[in-house]
Amino acid sequence: VKVWGLVAAAGSGVRMGEGGPKQFREVAGRPLFVHTLGALLEPGVIDGITVAVAEGFLARAQEIVSEHLATDVPIDCVAGGATRQESVYRGLVSIAGRGIDIVVIHDAARPLVSPETVRAAVDGAAAFGAAVAAVPAAEASCLAEGGFIAAYVDRTRHYTIQTPQAFRFDIIMAAHEKARSAGTTDAVDDGVLVRGMGEEVAVVAGSPENVKVTYIEDLNRITKYTEGRPVKK
Ligand code: C5P
Repeated sequence: VKVWGLVAAAGSGVRMGEGGPKQFREVAGRPLFVHTLGALLEPGVIDGITVAVAEGFLARAQEIVSEHLATDVPIDCVAGGATRQESVYRGLVSIAGRGIDIVVIHDAARPLVSPETVRAAVDGAAAFGAAVAAVPAAEASCLAEGGFIAAYVDRTRHYTIQTPQAFRFDIIMAAHEKARSAGTTDAVDDGVLVRGMGEEVAVVAGSPENVKVTYIEDLNRITKYTEGRPVKK
């Protein structure tokens, strides 16, 4: 089984303030997305990675990869698009025709993903065609409208969805093509596009640590998670 990683790293990181896109900000001496690539490679189940980055950062991103990662796994960078969905789609197009069975789509902004979660996503995709990492809601939850509770959500069935999300290549490509022809360009994630084709999406174990880095304070938390990963010392 050929398994490929696809990392969405083309966001602008506007919410982080000054200092450029968050995936290029240095944390513990390395750009954030280097930690993310290291985390994806840690379980040893991924044969290569494609990183979608903003067009203007292509050269710099490739430079950073060769500078910081000590691995034989091929890592290439492609230009992303205006939305996450578009960035993922461009990544998929760039790896089509390479005999890839399973693609593991992951946010560059989630450097704390555990090897167990990466494995669970890959295994879930192999077994069911599509699998997303998610965590059960820890607190009471509801849908709210206009400042009032519209409905309580049964906590035992409520999950928060993360990445990685892994798919059989043919399934996720078809899902993206279908969404594009329907005019959808800003899907919240990739699983929703597969559901939109009427396919089942399995839920596998994510973890509360696997946060999406949004604000500068989030960056401070990741410094203790850098051991054991194939990044150059
Ligand atoms: O903006 P948000 O935090 O939801 O982005 C999630 C991930 O998608 C980030 O890793 C970001 O770099 C990526 N992204 C992308 N292309 C875009 C927008 C976001 O690859 N146009």
